[in-house]
Amino acid sequence: MSKEANRPKIADLLQCGERDIEVTVKGWVRTKRGNKNVAFIALNDGTTINNIQVVVDVAGFDEELLKRVTTGSCLRVEGTLVESMGSGQPVEVQAREIEVYGSADPETYPLQKKGHTLEFLREIAHLRPRTNTFGAVLRIRHAMSYAIHKYFNDHGFFYLHTPLITGSDAEGAGAMFEVTTLDLNNLPRTDEGKVDYSQDFFGKQCNLTVSGQLEGETGAMALSKIYTFGPTFRAENSNTPRHLAEFWMIEPEMAFYELEDNMDLAEDFLKYLIRYALDNCADDLEFLNKMYDPELIERLRFVAENGFVRLDYTEGIDILSKSGMKFEFPVGWGLDLQSEHERYLVEQHFKKPVILINYPKEIKAFYMKMNADGRTVRAMDVLFPKIGEIIGGSERETDMGVLTGRMAEIGIPAEEMWWYLDLRRFGSAPHSGFGMGLERLLLFITGMANIRDVIPYPRTPKNAEF
Ligand code: 4AD
Ligand code: MG
Repeated sequence: MSKEANRPKIADLLQCGERDIEVTVKGWVRTKRGNKNVAFIALNDGTTINNIQVVVDVAGFDEELLKRVTTGSCLRVEGTLVESMGSGQPVEVQAREIEVYGSADPETYPLQKKGHTLEFLREIAHLRPRTNTFGAVLRIRHAMSYAIHKYFNDHGFFYLHTPLITGSDAEGAGAMFEVTTLDLNNLPRTDEGKVDYSQDFFGKQCNLTVSGQLEGETGAMALSKIYTFGPTFRAENSNTPRHLAEFWMIEPEMAFYELEDNMDLAEDFLKYLIRYALDNCADDLEFLNKMYDPELIERLRFVAENGFVRLDYTEGIDILSKSGMKFEFPVGWGLDLQSEHERYLVEQHFKKPVILINYPKEIKAFYMKMNADGRTVRAMDVLFPKIGEIIGGSERETDMGVLTGRMAEIGIPAEEMWWYLDLRRFGSAPHSGFGMGLERLLLFITGMANIRDVIPYPRTPKNAEF
């Protein structure tokens, strides 16, 4: 490893037990204060929410150099790590040498000390990782991504890379973004006047995937347990604090799992991730708890420690109908639940996460296993406080007749789905899976209120800046 790779970062130095050692710190200036004799620089390198204090004996430094040490500038500091005299930090660096890698003009650098609104920070998404809030969110996002891989690896799942460009719109999960190299100003046409996709790059109409599930099933029917973890795309025009046009989805798919097993997995998985965050992201969670959501840590602990309620959709509708609540959207058997309904069940009625199962087939995807009643399917949605739906999944239909029947009803051409149907033709088995949106999980873990604030560069209707 190179010398730079081995250099302790600010997170390491703040925890370091040694004193009076020579150190090099590199990072961005959060604040500079002091008087004509001594300057205090709060330096942050993103490895922790905490800054290290650099103490500068002004007399020993060039005045012009210190002028270039402004909020947002980037420095290399050589000095001695000493016990801090001040409160609030265990150690500080007595500077011996300072190099300004890059200054930041105080007139134009947008992140001055004062607090900024989250809306303003979205407009400078390229700089917001330098704020405490986004540093915390991005570190937690990393920790959760790592924990997701760790959980599945430790439980015998294989990571399967499903394609992002797809030739079939089977999921029906939402409107799709088309992928084409055709000249939109001069489209080739067939004799009937339709777009001639045979001349397109793939020789057919293609889209960005809304879900890796169907290809995921092909993996599970060979490797037993797989998961996907990648970007998915939905062109729904829903401008809500919970929807993105590009989001990251995790989709485990398991051969031999029935709905019960699927629910057990979803509950264990979510609790593991919450505990992982509590154990590994304490500083960042405490900051978010203090700044945005005073019940955050308490809520995380509560969900990690208590069983989820498991409830039939039909009972859920019953509870909602009898609640006496005035909802914006109607409640009735056969209607899909809106976020306000989901949150009523979770936050007001049960005061616990709820796994709602056995939904009417009409409001769920074609591949979900039909129940004996012929009206409901073995679907499951995991509903969380503050979020509503965090996971959606099901046991899959294995009966060829029932499956093709559902496809015909919905208008999915069987010939396009020949490969998916082959799974039922050759060595079919009961299997189940679910999908979790990474950003929905992060909304829950961080307590942030808007999904645009838990992904580095949000993609939403009319917004693809950066
Ligand atoms: O419920 P959905 O649409 O399910 C599927 O896509 C299945 N193929 C999953 C499976 O069984 N393998 O989406 C799954 C999850 C939702 O519960 C939600 O967490 C997230 O994906 N999600 C979104 N997150 C952000 N923005 C959007 N527009 C989302 N749509 C779904
Ligand atoms: Mg869903």
